[in-house]
Amino acid sequence: MKANLYYLLIISLYFAPFNNCVMAQEKSIEKNIDSLLQQMTLEEKVGQMNQYNGFWDVTGPAPKGGNAEIKYEHLKKGLVGSMLNVVGTEEVRKLQKLVVEETRLGIPLIFGYDVIHGYKTLAPIPLAEAASWDMEAIENSAKIAAQEASAVGLNWTFAPMVDISRDPRWGRVMEGGGEDTFLGAKIAEARVKGFQGDDLSKPNTLAACAKHFAAYGFAEAGKEYNTADIGTSTLYNTVLPPFNAAVDADVKTIMNGFNILNGIPVTGNKMLQRDILKEKWGFDGFVISDWSSVGEMVPHGFAEDLKHAAELGVKAGSDMDMESSAYVLHLVENVKEGKVDESLIDDAVRRILRVKYELGLFDDPYRYCDEEREKEELYHKKHQAAVLDMALKSIVLLKNDNDLLPLKKGQQKIAVIGQLADDNNSSLGSWRLGSDDNTGVSVLEGLKNHSINFSYSQGPKVFEDANFLNEVKVNHTNTSGIEEAVALAKKSDVVLMVLGEHGFQSGEGRSRTKLDLPGLQLDLLKAVHEVNKNIVLILMNGRPLTINWEAENIPAILETWQLGSQAGNAIAKVLFGDHNPSGKLPMTFPRSVGQIPIYYNHFSTGRPDPESTVFWTHYGDEKNEPLFHFGHGLSYTEFKYSNLKIDATDEKAIKVSATIQNIGGVTGKEVVQLYIHDKVASVARPVKELKGFQKISLDQGASQEVTFVLTDKELGFYNHDYEFVVEPGTFEVMIGTSSQEGLTGTFVLK
Ligand code: GLC
Repeated sequence: MKANLYYLLIISLYFAPFNNCVMAQEKSIEKNIDSLLQQMTLEEKVGQMNQYNGFWDVTGPAPKGGNAEIKYEHLKKGLVGSMLNVVGTEEVRKLQKLVVEETRLGIPLIFGYDVIHGYKTLAPIPLAEAASWDMEAIENSAKIAAQEASAVGLNWTFAPMVDISRDPRWGRVMEGGGEDTFLGAKIAEARVKGFQGDDLSKPNTLAACAKHFAAYGFAEAGKEYNTADIGTSTLYNTVLPPFNAAVDADVKTIMNGFNILNGIPVTGNKMLQRDILKEKWGFDGFVISDWSSVGEMVPHGFAEDLKHAAELGVKAGSDMDMESSAYVLHLVENVKEGKVDESLIDDAVRRILRVKYELGLFDDPYRYCDEEREKEELYHKKHQAAVLDMALKSIVLLKNDNDLLPLKKGQQKIAVIGQLADDNNSSLGSWRLGSDDNTGVSVLEGLKNHSINFSYSQGPKVFEDANFLNEVKVNHTNTSGIEEAVALAKKSDVVLMVLGEHGFQSGEGRSRTKLDLPGLQLDLLKAVHEVNKNIVLILMNGRPLTINWEAENIPAILETWQLGSQAGNAIAKVLFGDHNPSGKLPMTFPRSVGQIPIYYNHFSTGRPDPESTVFWTHYGDEKNEPLFHFGHGLSYTEFKYSNLKIDATDEKAIKVSATIQNIGGVTGKEVVQLYIHDKVASVARPVKELKGFQKISLDQGASQEVTFVLTDKELGFYNHDYEFVVEPGTFEVMIGTSSQEGLTGTFVLK
């Protein structure tokens, strides 16, 4: 006992200087904020709460057109705290210089941008990264994004998006971590750490922003910007935990959203932003609104006008107003009229200044404006290598009948068919404003880079026009190209069909009511299938799709999502076995849109089991089962699960383990998943909940015992009073290769 105390003393003495240093630094920041706040006029304080969009060239004279002149005047008067969409060390330096040198107090701007999955070098879309279940790789991917974005003057990213969603009709599922809270929370933590690093003042890190707080992913019918109306159990147990994980990872900012939640716009929602986020969780960063969401409380029918919206927003805890001008135009008068207490303004400004201090912007406002770094970092080959690695880990092998994959190099006549095979843009996804068009490696280029001989036929044109702002134009009538493609397939040994969505068919503003392959792609596939059954379907998409006929008739299906800059190289490596796929689905694939929302951690209902009559939980025209389950993903090898053990002697640390053996022919990685089911509780619990996963690598023949420890944190849930409770009773556990396959057992918690 004495020895332990001795070691504890040594350790605390060793770290004392470090802890004292951090505390001293925090104290000096707070002191600096106090003194600055005392000097600031009310107008200048409100200015810090105002963010404007850039999209203009400040290298020339004052920007012209629209409200650009007003923005420029406000910048010079110190009435702007942040800019978004201003990039490039030259442009950032110019604006920063204007504000630091021309305004009374010279408070530096913070520059924000949507660095969602890379800046110039693009990683796979976040939903694809989620399919890797590899937190180290995901953290590194965010780190790379921060390296490049900070090199162009940015110090803040509006990421990670941590909205849980069960509805693939919603276009923004591509931007999140899928349908599961446990996986989503782990990803939130990894991405915040990747963006922010261990020292936010370092010029190659970014302040992160967990968004959209909250429940945006539950937009009714998957329709963009639509109402979210959910119960407290779903809010507390499904929606909020990933945000809480981000706050626990010290995320510096939170962005709210466009939606109303249970009748109240989240931007005006005090319960969410003050009671839970700032009070209960102790969040000390700041909340930024989503684009004009303060002002949108008027069309929501929640605010009379912009002035009233400004009052409601700041009272609810929205600290900074993105682009609606509500704050900069009306907060001063709201305070002077006694509608808003100045202490609320001071709290918001304190939070904003704190992040600017932590970023080091007061020490050196030009810290992120290093022209040399800008030249070195962008598209750097080490970044390309990192996003290739991330892409390889994100690919999911959905089906592989008769081990059609991997293909043998040089032994087969290969046909490649589909417009997406020759597309350098779609794999970049829709959320990559900072990157350059057509900088993705296409499938055709990837095959050439790996010395694969093939013949290509585009098939019918699928996408006729596509851009960031408008609906993608899809061809539904012109079948020319099918005949040529079929002729090529007929004389080939194997056909690689590259089909899916255009990159601009998912993302914000991209809700869809049909989730089939767009256009004539399925017609093309069926025509090819008539003459050649040896088909590998390579899916490129930003959301789960209802690929029923494909799943039934095509022997091999690779889910490649939108893999970013190195897409084609990653796909080629997996096709020919240079890399053994290890991804697992982070989101359920429905059989039909009619099943949505369909997700693995559903509730039992009172009539879960088939009856001889129609009076049980089911559809008359569709199965209950999804097409592909959450957590599903195959490998070129095979893993055998055995020897489930449960040790519940220590109720605070219940050990659950199983042995996994690689009984196939090649080395492979497996995501071993742990699920629980709390059979009886004061709030009904889902039939299954992911509470642990470990991605392990096993050589041929090797085996490993994988152990999980279940604590209160994993066994408990939030009740309707938002109290975290752990209740005694029987728990089922499953260790498996997906949410549907595994070894099961039970234990009783006393
Ligand atoms: C957008 C998005 C949000 C983004 C912001 C700034 O509308 O909803 O995620 O960060 O506006 O571009």
